[in-house]
Amino acid sequence: MTFDTPLVRSSLDEVADEAKDWRRTIHQYPELLFDLPKTAALVTEKLTEFGCDEIVGGIAKSGVVAVINGTKGRGRTIALRCDMDALPMAEQTNLQHASKVENMMHACGHDGHTAMLLATAKQLSANRDFAGKVVLIFQPAEEGGAGARVMIEEGVLERFGIDEVYGMHNQPGLDIGSFAIRSGPMMAAGDRFVVTINGKGGHAAYPHLSHDPVLAGAQVIVALQAIASRFTNPFDPVVVSVTYLEGGNPGALNVIPAAIRIGGTIRTMQTATREMVEQHFREVVANTARSFGSQAEIDWRPGYPVTVNDPVKARAAAKAATFAAGADNVDTDWPPTMGSEDFSYMLDKRPGAMIWLGNGNSADLHSPAYDFNDDAIVHGVRYWLTLVDQRLNDSAGE
Ligand code: NI
Repeated sequence: MTFDTPLVRSSLDEVADEAKDWRRTIHQYPELLFDLPKTAALVTEKLTEFGCDEIVGGIAKSGVVAVINGTKGRGRTIALRCDMDALPMAEQTNLQHASKVENMMHACGHDGHTAMLLATAKQLSANRDFAGKVVLIFQPAEEGGAGARVMIEEGVLERFGIDEVYGMHNQPGLDIGSFAIRSGPMMAAGDRFVVTINGKGGHAAYPHLSHDPVLAGAQVIVALQAIASRFTNPFDPVVVSVTYLEGGNPGALNVIPAAIRIGGTIRTMQTATREMVEQHFREVVANTARSFGSQAEIDWRPGYPVTVNDPVKARAAAKAATFAAGADNVDTDWPPTMGSEDFSYMLDKRPGAMIWLGNGNSADLHSPAYDFNDDAIVHGVRYWLTLVDQRLNDSAGE
């Protein structure tokens, strides 16, 4: 078993340089959610130029999938996935390649993810020294649109016969050339809620003639904190944040309003906990409101599921990263985060793993000062190629 194949031995400097240009072009023209005509066109153009065996566009509106067959015969089919969409926010970097579109910005590095996967496609097309096939998934709408789920609903996993799925996201604060991963839950489920509390309005001087939804709402907000502190195991992290509160009228301070609204987000790290927390949430909200003479109307908005790395595939990903970057540069016990990620839908359906790629000392993700670090490109591409080599050349592998 050796991974010193032409696939990973080739110099990546040239393709990384090219990818930097693609990345900066994509960065200048950020697009949102499912509506990525420019980005998808650039991706399709490059994939066509590289000579991929199959290129299918228009999946989940702007998603693009490319297939590259190895020359060593039958084998596994692995999918490498990137996200392509940007965020509705104004860039404040003053960089030469800064966004040219008002209030749209690649503030999560999906421009870099796309460029790295394109560079990987170029290398793999030119050197197919592997068995089976590689499916490259360029996905829209990671930022709130569940693009991964829509691609799955449109049959992407079955249509291309995908056995395993792998994802990569850049991580500010992690050194350039470093990787981080963990087995099991890696990112949280992020659900949201809006609750309308309907009471009975009236004159504030005669509260006994009303059912005050403001007091009921205040009790609900406090009671919700007991879900994390009293209902769940302290070693199983849960976050309940009420972030929105609306009701009454500052021009009518002597009026008890008829209704108020509260909203927020709940983060959990286990699917079973997620279900338990939702059930408690509904009971706490309904019963607390009722005990103050009000009725609660709950609008529960399910978000992305928990991102769970399959233990065997996480080990395979760590092995590839270790080969690509050296053992000293791979943290295999990276703490889970309360952020969420729609690659979780793919990991729900197929075994696989998501890995963090160091973005160096950059501004945080979703910050107006953020920029993907082009120096990370070469490392990300080497990881992808090594992963392909190890998963598709190692017949003894798990
Ligand atoms: Ni992102």
